[in-house]
Amino acid sequence: MYAITGATGNTGSVIAAKLLAGAEKVRVIGRNAGRLAGFVRRGAEACVADVTDATALTTAFAGAKAVYAMIPPNIAAPDVSAYQERVSDALLSAITRAGVGFAVVLSSVGADKPDKTGPVVGLHNLEQKLSSIAGLNALYLRAGYFMENTLAQIGIIQSFGLLGGPLRADLPVGMIAAHDIGDWAGEELLRLSFAGKQARELLGQRDLTYREVASVIGKAIGKSNLSYSQFPPALIKPALLQSGMYTSMADLILEMSEALNSGYMAPLEPRSAQNTTPTAFETFVAEVFLPRFKGKAAAS
Ligand SMILES: NC(=O)c1ccc[n+]([C@@H]2O[C@H](COP(=O)([O-])OP(=O)(O)OC[C@H]3O[C@@H](n4cnc5c(N)ncnc54)[C@H](OP(=O)(O)O)[C@@H]3O)[C@@H](O)[C@H]2O)c1
Repeated sequence: MYAITGATGNTGSVIAAKLLAGAEKVRVIGRNAGRLAGFVRRGAEACVADVTDATALTTAFAGAKAVYAMIPPNIAAPDVSAYQERVSDALLSAITRAGVGFAVVLSSVGADKPDKTGPVVGLHNLEQKLSSIAGLNALYLRAGYFMENTLAQIGIIQSFGLLGGPLRADLPVGMIAAHDIGDWAGEELLRLSFAGKQARELLGQRDLTYREVASVIGKAIGKSNLSYSQFPPALIKPALLQSGMYTSMADLILEMSEALNSGYMAPLEPRSAQNTTPTAFETFVAEVFLPRFKGKAAAS
């Protein structure tokens, strides 16, 4: 049996669907039974557990030969780093107490660094904690920049007619569709051929700059001169706070952006067939971005 945290999310939902399609026994974990019901109809067992609750997670992992472990984002946490530590402590405790043998763990490019990478420090610490479990075989998937991050641009395009953010316009970034991470993780869970503690970078189909992101999105929405502007932290922070984010998350995002812009946070491996995944940004835009963009335009 496989236990999947974040099962209703971007990556976990793909893993759960893949394992169920392969007739595997799956326990899907989330905070709400209703949201897990679709998987139950396809044969999964649902387990309602909060990932900060070590006892509930231990029950959720009991009897699993392998788990998919992740720290769900929580932008509403007043102290995001403290929240991340609570989740990684609970995962450490639950994996140990349930005696799980294999874990595929969602991490990030930059998780090799112990500090100054914003929310990725929490993933570095997660890797460190799980690596202390002697009997565990763990595969840390160090994913690149999610293409889904560009969905936050929809409101900016619709309000200001451009893309904007803290990253340099000319910074090449390995952008990956979350679906590809789920697919990859699902394959690894089916094979269970990793041993000891291993990290693997996943860098998406190719590197893209935000200038190129603007060009691809511009073509798709019929605005061929769509441009991207890098904004200074002093302008970004108030905008993030106005969008409902706490200071803690806003500060971490700006720290990570600085780490990316300076090259401190970067892949360790050159691009290769092993760390490249299939979904092109153009496909993501056609299948995910454009329907959301049109939906939002119709609603406003
Ligand atoms: N964005 C990036 O560029 C990037 C890059 C590399 C790594 N990452 C990492 O990727 C991870 C996010 O992955 P994702 O996009 O697959 O996640 P996601 O879709 O945002 O969230 C996964 C699921 O977690 C569940 N959840 C939320 N809070 C929970 C809680 N307290 N207890 C139990 N379940 C909870 C939610 O389901 P329910 O509502 O059903 O409970 C949600 O659907 C983060 O750790 C992030 O640091 C992100």
